[in-house]
Amino acid sequence: MDIEIRQATIEDIPEITTLFRDTVREVNSKHYSDKQIQTWSAGASDTQKWEERIHKCYFLVAESHDIIVGFAYLKNGNYFDGLFVHKDYQRQGIASKLLRIIESKVMMDGFGEIKSDVSITALPFFENHYFDVIKKQKKVLKGMTFENYIVSKAL
Ligand SMILES: CC(C)(COP(=O)(O)OP(=O)(O)OC[C@H]1O[C@@H](n2cnc3c(N)ncnc32)[C@H](O)[C@@H]1OP(=O)(O)O)[C@@H](O)C(=O)NCCC(=O)NCCS
Repeated sequence: MDIEIRQATIEDIPEITTLFRDTVREVNSKHYSDKQIQTWSAGASDTQKWEERIHKCYFLVAESHDIIVGFAYLKNGNYFDGLFVHKDYQRQGIASKLLRIIESKVMMDGFGEIKSDVSITALPFFENHYFDVIKKQKKVLKGMTFENYIVSKAL
């Protein structure tokens, strides 16, 4: 598949947030309850937060034939804060491509480690890419508790 990766712009927000909402509802719903999915996917509507992420983070989108099929963003130099692939484009290597560029950026900026906290859904992907689980944790988002994993990898 032809994939192009570029930095996100504010104009991408509608497509990014639609992808985010649909992926959480369709893909993450295998591992989280309806209430958790509702709370998590509601984050799609917080346009101000997405604008802030695009301005302050290293924010990449993956495109195929002008459709955004995935996105990833890095916060504070080496904290990998978000990775989402379009629900209809799962398991086609898109996240792996995004991760490769994110890791290069972390190394170019002089960090020896990349860290993240990842969903139950995404853990097999991160394990496949040689991340170590530091610990299982409970994270609170808008009053709702989510189980996830703190992971890291030396670069
Ligand atoms: C996790 C996610 C980003 C992976 O994206 P992807 O583009 O499908 O991943 P890739 O195709 O690059 O996967 C590479 C490898 O990781 C592993 N992997 C990925 N998803 C997996 C899954 N659901 N179960 C088991 N292994 C998986 C596989 O080894 C895979 O290689 P293979 O397909 O040849 O077997 C995607 O499933 C997603 O969007 N999940 C929901 C959002 C989410 O939870 N994001 C993290 C938020 S913290």
